Amino acid sequence: MSVQLRNETASPISPLLSTSAPRWIWLQLLEACNLRCKMCYEWGDNGAYKERTMLTQLDIKVVKQIIEDCSPVKPYYDLFGGEPLMYPQIDEVLAALKYYGSQVAFPTNGTLLEKHAEMIIENEPHRVWVSMDGPEEINDQQRGKGVFKRATRGIEKLHALREEKGKEFPKIGTIFIITPLTYMHVEELFFKSLDITKLDHISLEFQSFITPEDHVNYRNILKNNFDLDTNAAVSKGFVRELSEFIEMNAREIARQVRSIEEYCKEKGVYFNAYPQNMTEETVELYFSGNSHKLAHAKKRCEFPWLSTEINARGDVTSCHAFYDLTLGNVNEQRLLDIWNGPKYKQYRNYLKKNSFPICQACCLNFKTKTEK
Ligand SMILES: C[S@@+](CC[C@H](N)C(=O)[O-])C[C@H]1O[C@@H](n2cnc3c(N)ncnc32)[C@H](O)[C@@H]1O
Ligand code: SF4
Ligand code: SF4
Repeated sequence: MSVQLRNETASPISPLLSTSAPRWIWLQLLEACNLRCKMCYEWGDNGAYKERTMLTQLDIKVVKQIIEDCSPVKPYYDLFGGEPLMYPQIDEVLAALKYYGSQVAFPTNGTLLEKHAEMIIENEPHRVWVSMDGPEEINDQQRGKGVFKRATRGIEKLHALREEKGKEFPKIGTIFIITPLTYMHVEELFFKSLDITKLDHISLEFQSFITPEDHVNYRNILKNNFDLDTNAAVSKGFVRELSEFIEMNAREIARQVRSIEEYCKEKGVYFNAYPQNMTEETVELYFSGNSHKLAHAKKRCEFPWLSTEINARGDVTSCHAFYDLTLGNVNEQRLLDIWNGPKYKQYRNYLKKNSFPICQACCLNFKTKTEK
């Protein structure tokens, strides 16, 4: 496949690149998704996107411009959706990132993995994360009928092709979201339902949520500190009542997580958890709305200095998946000018001393294994 990367009419690379550019870039390629997973803050029961009458996606020319502008620092990329494999030019995005030598990872619901397996192997993204939330019956209750079978077929094909072509990448992983519906079924998925030998990575993640009070407090911060009078519709997709989590058995969750972690250690499979260190106490604090009290919760967020996210509408922010406070739009301005512009500065200044009520639902709010 030919790679057309240069936009001949575009202006030269921003001179600001020499001073600052994001090292980690999330691209929400599109809003659309072919599933309606119950817990999803975008398309789930309370999802923020359900009411939208018009769905958008990033213009491929703009995506290529961003990739080209930031290429001197070779940022790490995460592609996002909706469902990233539904983006019509997903092959061109992966080819462009390969061409410029950037590493890229993306999550997928797995339903289109079989169809795109050849293209993915050809473009060698670094990691593909397939979302799976339990054995077939539980996964399909949370994610939709027939999804488990399609996703497992996708993993098998991707793995087989990678072996056949003798390639190292993509590494294949699964993301399991621990929710009131799935929490009893972690071991069953990995030890009975899936061929775990096909996996290089396993990530176990607690359902992200904010309480109705967090949402009101966030709206007030946006109004009082950023002059933004908004109903914070995107963050509203994360709102859950604490009573939904009351039945969850913290001891059982901690036990099952430990058993998966031990398996991974023994077999050399990369293990990730959000939040890290899922002890009984962690589970209790997290699902009672007290995740800010966790030992691994950060006191200060470094992401506004490190990473940026561009959503399908072209809006830019650093708060992953929370698109209410935006700092510019790539359909109107070059990314690096936004990154180095006054709104980003104001946002960073605020976060030097404060956090947001939404931080407790953000996977970036927890220290990684290497951070103390
Ligand atoms: C929003 S989806 C987008 C990518 C793709 N559609 C997928 O499902 O993998 C990204 C990841 O967020 C997870 N997710 C959805 N709702 C969540 C929630 N409330 N808390 C934590 N993770 C969630 C999904 O399971 C998936 O692993
Ligand atoms: S597939 Fe992904 S984006 Fe779509 S509803 Fe499920 S979690 Fe949300
Ligand atoms: S939501 Fe909070 S933790 Fe997440 S990136 Fe934004 S400031 Fe950082």
